[in-house]
Amino acid sequence: MTGHAEASHGGTTKPILEIDRLKTHFFTRDGVVRAVDGVSYALYPGETLGVVGESGCGKSITALSVLRLIARPGRIVRGRDPSRRTEPARPLRSRDALDPRQ
Ligand SMILES: Nc1ncnc2c1ncn2[C@@H]1O[C@H](COP(=O)(O)OP(=O)(O)O)[C@@H](O)[C@H]1O
Ligand SMILES: [Mg+2]
Repeated sequence: MTGHAEASHGGTTKPILEIDRLKTHFFTRDGVVRAVDGVSYALYPGETLGVVGESGCGKSITALSVLRLIARPGRIVRGRDPSRRTEPARPLRSRDALDPRQ
């Protein structure tokens, strides 16, 4: 899936979530599946963003990438969330939920 969603937001409002040309690929024995291949969007406070597309186009993998829940053989090969300062996103581990510093 590739795509770009944009809405006009005059002034200084900052997005609460922004993805910039996100790419998540699956490195399988039979080859590379480019499930998400350059998806960008910005979500602003109070907004709802709907993602539509045919079955298998990458909607779930996009959402799982944002949540850092991609498991092998999948990998986020490009993706940046400016509010988190991690690039590429690191995988979420079960102990993260138990760590009060996070
Ligand atoms: N574990 C995996 N290994 C290989 N390909 C995968 C894996 N998980 C998902 N895919 C592929 O990624 C693509 C996007 O899947 P998905 O995001 O689940 O689609 P949908 O838009 O229906 O939610 C599909 O082509 C799917 O076959
Ligand atoms: Mg799905």
